Amino acid sequence: MSTVYVFTDFGGPETQQLLDRPAPQPGPGELAVEVRAAGVNPVDWKIRSGALGRDRELPAPMGREVSGVVTDLGEGVEGFAVGDEVLGPVADGHGGFAEHTLVRAAEAVAKPEEISFADAATIPVAAATAYDATHQIELDPGQRLLILGAGGGVGLMAAQIGSVHQFTVIGVASQSKRKIVESTGATFVPSGKGVADRVREVAPEGVDLIVDLVGGEALREVVGLVADPTRIISAADATTATELGGAALERTQEAMEKITEVIEYGLVDPHVTACYPLTEAGRAVAEVETGHATGKIVLEPTPCADPGHARSLVR
Ligand SMILES: NC(=O)c1ccc[n+]([C@@H]2O[C@H](COP(=O)([O-])OP(=O)(O)OC[C@H]3O[C@@H](n4cnc5c(N)ncnc54)[C@H](OP(=O)(O)O)[C@@H]3O)[C@@H](O)[C@H]2O)c1
Repeated sequence: MSTVYVFTDFGGPETQQLLDRPAPQPGPGELAVEVRAAGVNPVDWKIRSGALGRDRELPAPMGREVSGVVTDLGEGVEGFAVGDEVLGPVADGHGGFAEHTLVRAAEAVAKPEEISFADAATIPVAAATAYDATHQIELDPGQRLLILGAGGGVGLMAAQIGSVHQFTVIGVASQSKRKIVESTGATFVPSGKGVADRVREVAPEGVDLIVDLVGGEALREVVGLVADPTRIISAADATTATELGGAALERTQEAMEKITEVIEYGLVDPHVTACYPLTEAGRAVAEVETGHATGKIVLEPTPCADPGHARSLVR
């Protein structure tokens, strides 16, 4: 038997629970993966809430991004072998908050030795999103990139990528995140009422691109900082972004491999700030569901085997 964390109905966190069931068997083109770490993302609770549709089978396994070890190969898989260390998004209908899951071979990336399992588990969704958000519109060195939600899982990585490209990065986050945002090389601006004026103090001519990771009113408040509203990209709120003249983030195939290399070379740190055992999955999801997480939160089925990487371990 294999343990997996599921939600049993669309709604609140009370519908989440651990379940024991046979480990999933790989179908054609799939890898069976023994999960070593799984990234926790806002999309996990958004799916559970029903806000992203209600057409999935219940109980529905939770968790979209994992790292782990290949234990079996589905028909037709080439380029991977049992025992390989990999990272990837989980196959449809399966979950990452689990001892075992499935990843489509076409979407899997070999995990470099230099990257811990915990860091690798942040790549398929969060780090790849940060990569796409900072490449959809290319800035030149010195141009100003404003990141709204700079202290979260995607934001801290986007800020570091911006710094690597020598953009002038301005990171908006709550006061408690000042130090961690500044550690990326960004100029910190506190979020909340009057944020646009505070950004103007450090960028009197406005900014060249807004990467929005928050949406809603927070995005509306800063829209006047770009002269051209097509220079707004939102991963959080496509509706508001397009209404304001901007665009939704477009995800690309290449992002995962590219950002894996960048992390391998030590240019971007995923900032795993907490590691929870699978038995505490509910607490991990709740922390992200506050909307105010710092960096990345991961789950590890074998309790947080890589303590050097997580800044706080939750047991
Ligand atoms: N389209 C995609 O493929 C894709 C992929 C990944 C993520 N996303 C979306 O992108 C968004 C960010 O994801 P994430 O993983 O980075 O989430 P996260 O880790 O929860 O981070 C969100 C950050 O936003 C900050 N924040 C909240 N309100 C704010 C405000 N008014 N002003 C500035 N910062 C504020 C939060 O902390 P503080 O308030 O304390 O600063 C938090 O650090 C989510 O909506 C997620 O669903 C989309």
